Amino acid sequence: MNKPSDPPKKCPLTTAFGAPVVDNQNSMTAGPRGPLLMQDVWLIEKLANLNREIIPERRMHAKGSGAFGTFTVTNDITRYTRAKIFSAVGKQTEMFARFTTVAGERGAADAERDIRGFALKFYTEEGNWDLVGNNTPVFFLRDPRKFPDLNKAVKRDPKTNLRSATNNWDFWTSLPEALHQVTIVMSDRGIPASYRHMHGFSSHTYSFINAGNERFWVKFHIKTQQGILNLTDAEAAELIGRDRESHQRDLFDAIERGDFPKWTLYVQVMPETDAEKVPYHPFDLTKIWPKKDYPLIEVGVMELNRNPENFFADVEQSAFAPNNLVPGISVSPDKMLQARLFAYSDAQRYRLGVNHHQIPVNAARCPVHSNHRDGAMRVDGNYGGTPHYEPNSFGQWQEQPEYREPPLKINGDGDFWNYRVDDADYYKQPGDLFRLMTPAQQQVLFDNTARAMGDAPEFIKRRHIGNCTRADRAYGAGVAKALGLDITVTLGEREQAGAG
Ligand code: HEM
Repeated sequence: MNKPSDPPKKCPLTTAFGAPVVDNQNSMTAGPRGPLLMQDVWLIEKLANLNREIIPERRMHAKGSGAFGTFTVTNDITRYTRAKIFSAVGKQTEMFARFTTVAGERGAADAERDIRGFALKFYTEEGNWDLVGNNTPVFFLRDPRKFPDLNKAVKRDPKTNLRSATNNWDFWTSLPEALHQVTIVMSDRGIPASYRHMHGFSSHTYSFINAGNERFWVKFHIKTQQGILNLTDAEAAELIGRDRESHQRDLFDAIERGDFPKWTLYVQVMPETDAEKVPYHPFDLTKIWPKKDYPLIEVGVMELNRNPENFFADVEQSAFAPNNLVPGISVSPDKMLQARLFAYSDAQRYRLGVNHHQIPVNAARCPVHSNHRDGAMRVDGNYGGTPHYEPNSFGQWQEQPEYREPPLKINGDGDFWNYRVDDADYYKQPGDLFRLMTPAQQQVLFDNTARAMGDAPEFIKRRHIGNCTRADRAYGAGVAKALGLDITVTLGEREQAGAG
């Protein structure tokens, strides 16, 4: 195959099945002015193929950029996990990363105010480990029942087909647990200057299992070595006017010129039994773990050093799933994570097909012996004549009990537990974050919020002011002022008496 940069070399055109194409300029017609002939099979193949070039875009995180790279262990964490990827300092594992915006469609501009997806795939010797995180340590929700609604609220309005500040803020402000995430997205970090200049987070709590079969709770932090760099609303608007693909261009060009971006992977590790003692819910995705309680422990460095040769093959067809876990790295009771264990592979069976694990970017680089067979687009040997069933008398498909995890204690009655009643601490951590900001950063937060709320009705703006005030009185007052609203009209007696 010739690349544009290669010296010209004859590279003959064929049909999909290898037969020579005789004429790629002129359709076959009955006479020079006549109608087409059905026997022009190359024309029919071209038109039919065009109709099938498109695949469904991801329901969210549709716009993204990807690159291959290497992960290198720099610090020994084997006392916490038996995952082979971390087994020795200096060990390297091949990886693939995809960064995204969330709400925009496949052709959306990059420099939008939005969360960024931060999805990593590590091709380990014991299977693929996907860490499908974001550039923020928390999320809008703590119950997956609301995720489809979140998606509807941030995507286009069913009638106008426009993004709607009303839909967006009506939903967010009705779920006070979203305030932590909303505060981050509206802050000066809400529009990263590029994918290279942002941190990544697992956000969820996962678990580590060590060689002694002990469990630890763990959160992953991936810190950019390029430094944090953000855009203001005005800078982003100006940039989008010039370049809708600024993040793709930045990442691609940096890797092409050999300026390989790097991130340092850290973990916060919590002993299993601490989960019952900490004053916050350690599996609540709207909460962070304070670093003073659980300091960052360095693990390794990831470097992105190879652009995909073909965007569709590797980036569009990549499939990341939180259920792709390896021995030594496992789940937690976080109910958001639990739902994601189902949602991603299910989406990918629809988007890419049941055999998407065979697409090279998704394929494990270790032996795979899964007992799944057949299905559309099965392109390997399909396990040939190996017996189908298990148990069998031929040693096939043997389970591996040596990887069993320690039992996980679970208790409680099955019910629709209402966390709004049982665990109503939505405001402390957003308030702490607000109080960490400099006065200038707080002002940016107020102004960004006011601009983003746009033409949303006043009662929704007042609801948000109420939520902010419960986090910190100055937060509510600042947002009210930026919105040109009188705060005292907004607040109930409790807040006026001095919340925050
Ligand atoms: C993409 C569902 C929460 C990060 C997706 C996709 C689905 C999905 C269906 C598209 C998958 C595909 O077509 O390949 C959900 C559900 C959630 C949830 C049901 C909550 C219950 C989260 C959270 C994070 C996250 C909390 C981050 C911590 C991502 C990322 C992608 C993605 C980064 C893009 C992956 C890629 O680059 O291909 N999500 N999501 N999601 N989600 Fe979520």
